[in-house]
Amino acid sequence: MAIVIHGADEIAKMRVAGEIAAGTLAYVASKLRAGVTTKDIDNWVREDTARRGALPSQLGYKGFPAAVCTSRNEIICHGIPNPEHVLVAGDIVNVDVTSNIDGYHGDTSATFQIGEVSDDARKVTDVCFRCLNAGISVVRHGARLGDVGAAIMEIASKEGCGVVEEFGGHGIGRKMHMAPHVPHNGTAGRGVRLRAGMTFTIEPMITIGHPRVVQLDDGWTVVTHDGSPTAQFEHTVLVTKDGYEVLTAQRTPLPLIRPGFLEGEQAGGEPALAGPA
Ligand code: MF3
Ligand code: CO
Ligand code: CO
Repeated sequence: MAIVIHGADEIAKMRVAGEIAAGTLAYVASKLRAGVTTKDIDNWVREDTARRGALPSQLGYKGFPAAVCTSRNEIICHGIPNPEHVLVAGDIVNVDVTSNIDGYHGDTSATFQIGEVSDDARKVTDVCFRCLNAGISVVRHGARLGDVGAAIMEIASKEGCGVVEEFGGHGIGRKMHMAPHVPHNGTAGRGVRLRAGMTFTIEPMITIGHPRVVQLDDGWTVVTHDGSPTAQFEHTVLVTKDGYEVLTAQRTPLPLIRPGFLEGEQAGGEPALAGPA
């Protein structure tokens, strides 16, 4: 399928959609703590999306039963919010928000740490965040999708981490999922050539061990084969002549949910931060 090149009016709408998705993700981030359930996150996304005059793109998408994907610990992606799944200190959780306003979609996710997490969980989260930024950094008119995948792979390999290959980023615009497929692995100089006006997501899923995936019987939840923790970060990106524009950028870095926060000590110190540099 042909890849859409967006004009100025469409780009303006994509900026609005991206800002809304980013805003809702930040809203969730501000409320995350031990004791909340992943269904609470779904409720917050529904409320906040409506407040912004948008629609949650994921709700009902191919039958998906919620407004947001909440992927905890060994869940790679497409975790379904559940009122019985309570976040506890030591968990990491990816929250993936997609918003539709005026017919255009914005898609972004981040992995949050609840309290003190294991070395593996912290490592996979940090490496994944760096992988996303590395992938974004090579985007420009004339570059290739293989450049993006290669940049992600380079960091993951150096850190001994795995890159999930079964799922990738995707074109986004008038639909949540459009051409092209955006692999998170690849060879520099190969693949689809990028042109100014293309919009797509980059959303690497990184593992500690081998990146083999297992699909659960619910038809959605995808987990690591060995139960090891896994992380994902996602942005919606516009290709420009000289580089890129991150349409889902955070104005201020997202908070990491660290122990001081849980113990109510945050007033006394700076919250730990994670977010686009
Ligand atoms: N937001 C997800 C993505 O990054 C879409 C998940 S599809 C759903 O592509 F149906 F599970 F929501
Ligand atoms: Co996406
Ligand atoms: Co997403």
